[in-house]
Amino acid sequence: MHTPSIMVVLGNRPQFIKHAAFQRAWDARQPDMQLRVVDTGQHYNYELAGIFLDELRIPAPDHSLAVGSASHAEQLARMLVPLEELMMRTRPTSVVVYGDTNSTLGGALAAAKLNIPVAHIEAGLRSYDMHMPEELNRVLVDHASSLLYCPTQLAVDNLTNEGIAGEHVSMVGDVMADIAMAIAPAADAQWERLRAHLDLPERGQFALCTIHRAGNTEPDALREVIACLEAAGIPVVMPIHPRTEAMAERAGLHVDLASIPNVRLIPPLGYVDLAACVRAASCVMTDSGGLQKEAYIHGTPCITLRDTTEWAETVTSGMNVLVGRDAQKTSDAVIAAMSSDMGDRIAQRRDVYGDGHAAGRIVDSLVEHARHASHFAL
Ligand code: UD1
Repeated sequence: MHTPSIMVVLGNRPQFIKHAAFQRAWDARQPDMQLRVVDTGQHYNYELAGIFLDELRIPAPDHSLAVGSASHAEQLARMLVPLEELMMRTRPTSVVVYGDTNSTLGGALAAAKLNIPVAHIEAGLRSYDMHMPEELNRVLVDHASSLLYCPTQLAVDNLTNEGIAGEHVSMVGDVMADIAMAIAPAADAQWERLRAHLDLPERGQFALCTIHRAGNTEPDALREVIACLEAAGIPVVMPIHPRTEAMAERAGLHVDLASIPNVRLIPPLGYVDLAACVRAASCVMTDSGGLQKEAYIHGTPCITLRDTTEWAETVTSGMNVLVGRDAQKTSDAVIAAMSSDMGDRIAQRRDVYGDGHAAGRIVDSLVEHARHASHFAL
């Protein structure tokens, strides 16, 4: 007899983290179904992929497609054929995808074309900036999905505005919040060891910065980002993403970046180490979506080097400010982040990203959906 299965398609850094929450909830419930995990291989460096499997104790994926880096079309094309072949062979009851990357779109497209229900975790987010590859991925994947798991009420509202509503849309909370809350004590426990190991500034004496978005790593944009880092006026610790490093080298800007007096470049960090830095920093400077939200959850003010965000609640709470690539706004935002007003905002922030049990709700719903589907298949 064919054992019902759920397929998860993932492939890059934030997805390994989201999957850790899913896997924990799955293991806690031990449903009578198979979980098959496919890694597209979009991220292949140990520090962007393998480290998260090891650190968050996620079992090795069942299938690895090794698509690697390429243009958007080529990266997507390389994953679609083997994904289709795998899905046709294993006929999962549903295919789970996370977030907004090319691996999300690849998994959703391959499944939807085979009429296999797509379950989108982190559905309904919108930055309303269609120039971002991630925004295009979000919109396309939501419109191809049969089960939409939204992290917030705003995400549900965004979908309603696009005509996507009904029982298949649910507000479950945020899976990244599940993991962030679960590892916070471990992150605090390892801060002093990490600080000594990397010779970092004292707690509350630095900004933590990550930059990797396509829109910020083009040469002209990167020059403006460098000016913002200089303008921060406090020590900046920057774990550097391989994309940013490669783009800086190609544009001849690596020396400029590495020689900013207040900036300390360090290799990319594992998940718990990064959380330790977020919790110890006086503010976060980033263009990452996930990090804006993690900063909010950990109670650290955020300065976002973008003009838009898909995590609007962080901005309306007053804990996140969008500065684009404006050096003056960055400098003002760092001063505001260190003010006593900010302390009040941090203390008063609400649990907009859920109670830490989003993944459990998703697994229960998927298992229920699979039971229903197999009942009708009998
Ligand atoms: C991707 C996602 C982004 C997510 C980010 C997390 C898309 C469109 N973007 O961006 O939403 O926030 O992952 O990190 O899917 N590279 C390496 N080693 C690797 C992976 C990438 O050196 O293991 C470098 C290569 O120079 C590559 C570049 O990064 O060309 C871009 O990689 P890609 O996966 O296309 O996008 P990210 O910028 O990582």
